Amino acid sequence: MAVAPPSSRIPIITLLLVLAISAVYSSSSSSSSPAPANGSDTDLAALLAFKSQLADPHGVLADNWTGTSFWHWVGVTCSRRRPRVTALSFSATPLFGSLVPHLGNLSFLSVLNITDANLTGSIPPELGKLGRIKYLRLEGNSLSSSIPTALGNLTRLELLNLSYNQLTGQISPDLCTHMPKLETISLAANNLSGQIPPYLFNNTPSLQYIHFGYNILSGPIPEAICNMSLLQYMSFGHNNFTGTIPINQNYSLPMLQTFHLYQNKFTGRIPLGLASCQYLEHFSLCYNLFLDIVPLCAVT
Ligand SMILES: *[C@@H]1O[C@H](CO)[C@@H](O)[C@H](O)[C@H]1NC(C)=O
Ligand SMILES: *[C@@H]1O[C@H](CO)[C@@H](O)[C@H](O)[C@H]1NC(C)=O
Ligand SMILES: *[C@@H]1O[C@H](CO)[C@@H](O)[C@H](O)[C@H]1NC(C)=O
Ligand SMILES: *[C@@H]1O[C@H](CO)[C@@H](O)[C@H](O)[C@H]1NC(C)=O
Ligand SMILES: *[C@@H]1O[C@H](CO)[C@@H](O)[C@H](O)[C@H]1NC(C)=O
Ligand SMILES: *[C@@H]1O[C@H](CO)[C@@H](O)[C@H](O)[C@H]1NC(C)=O
Ligand SMILES: *[C@@H]1O[C@H](CO)[C@@H](O)[C@H](O)[C@H]1NC(C)=O
Ligand SMILES: *[C@@H]1O[C@H](CO)[C@@H](O)[C@H](O)[C@H]1NC(C)=O
Ligand SMILES: *[C@@H]1O[C@H](CO)[C@@H](O)[C@H](O)[C@H]1NC(C)=O
Ligand SMILES: *[C@@H]1O[C@H](CO)[C@@H](O)[C@H](O)[C@H]1NC(C)=O
Ligand SMILES: *[C@@H]1O[C@H](CO)[C@@H](O)[C@H](O)[C@H]1NC(C)=O
Repeated sequence: MAVAPPSSRIPIITLLLVLAISAVYSSSSSSSSPAPANGSDTDLAALLAFKSQLADPHGVLADNWTGTSFWHWVGVTCSRRRPRVTALSFSATPLFGSLVPHLGNLSFLSVLNITDANLTGSIPPELGKLGRIKYLRLEGNSLSSSIPTALGNLTRLELLNLSYNQLTGQISPDLCTHMPKLETISLAANNLSGQIPPYLFNNTPSLQYIHFGYNILSGPIPEAICNMSLLQYMSFGHNNFTGTIPINQNYSLPMLQTFHLYQNKFTGRIPLGLASCQYLEHFSLCYNLFLDIVPLCAVT
């Protein structure tokens, strides 16, 4: 059939007219104001900002992060359903420079894992916008300044590892109070000072691993820490803590395997409640000011 029947010609003309009008409308509106941000474009912009801030001597980003198909870029994982970044992961890849605040725009991110990578500068508070993040690992860099208070907004966080950096300042009172799923926290080997906030662990029932060793923390350790049903590993060694250890028959650490308090200024009696921790394998209390006989120092 060469000619369309009249009944279908009118809708086609109408359709063309509508398309022409909408094209004029959209071109005029895009010239007057920026188009609404497409999430995928925002992710691309965040990744390019991340790349632009880092010196990359092995050329990992320079050679691989080219074009715009970021879902094929090394270190980037995207959702199966849409081009949105869900994980950004580099380990032992030298990336010299600081983290850009734009990373806080990766709104689908659930894993940020940049370890042993020579990062410097401070942790951007904008990371507190990553509402879906579960694993935040930045250990083994040279990050400095204090831990941003805004990280306390990461309510889905399960693992936080900021160990082996040069972080200073105090731990924010609300760092973990809205993290009910937190299983692992390591802030070890930094230069964190001040007290551990007394309520830090009052709402972390899933905690299995706490490592705050090798800082200059002081004051008592929070009582809530001695009453955690899933806790397996607890280290406060090599700090400046004082006070007594509140573990007796009223507290409960049924899963505890490792307990390090060495090199502090704890006083009072050795916590007898430890005798009821049936899985305890490694513990070290040496170099403290306990009244009882202090066991020989053997950190195992
Ligand atoms: C967003 O932009 C990307 C790349 O520019 C495009 O592939 C995708 O279809 C856009 N998505 C939406 C929902 O507009
Ligand atoms: C980047 O690396 C990924 C994974 O190794 C690879 O599939 C991709 O082809 C690389 N892209 C470029 C432009 O080299
Ligand atoms: C983070 O990176 C380390 C080292 O590459 C890897 O072993 C680990 O599985 C990664 N974790 C996640 C949650 O991707
Ligand atoms: C992303 O984040 C940066 C810095 O936090 C901001 O300047 C930028 O406007 C944000 N939005 C988009 C769409 O890139
Ligand atoms: C970069 O980081 C690696 C791993 O942490 C470390 O061995 C290396 O000394 C660092 N390089 C510099 C120049 O800081
Ligand atoms: C956490 O998020 C809330 C709401 O978005 C905001 O008002 C608050 O300032 C954030 N807290 C921090 C410490 O950034
Ligand atoms: C945290 O980082 C330290 C230092 O690299 C590492 O030894 C430890 O296994 C990490 N723990 C977790 C649970 O990520
Ligand atoms: C902590 O501070 C001391 C004194 O400023 C410094 O010598 C040391 O290297 C710092 N340690 C870390 C892990 O940043
Ligand atoms: C320990 O936790 C249990 C259950 O959450 C609670 O009933 C008990 O009072 C706590 N004991 C102490 C000494 O805080
Ligand atoms: C440790 O605490 C004592 C007081 O108990 C204080 O004099 C000393 O300066 C502290 N050391 C550090 C490294 O903070
Ligand atoms: C246990 O708690 C009860 C009630 O709070 C208290 O009377 C008792 O002295 C506590 N026992 C120990 C050993 O602290």
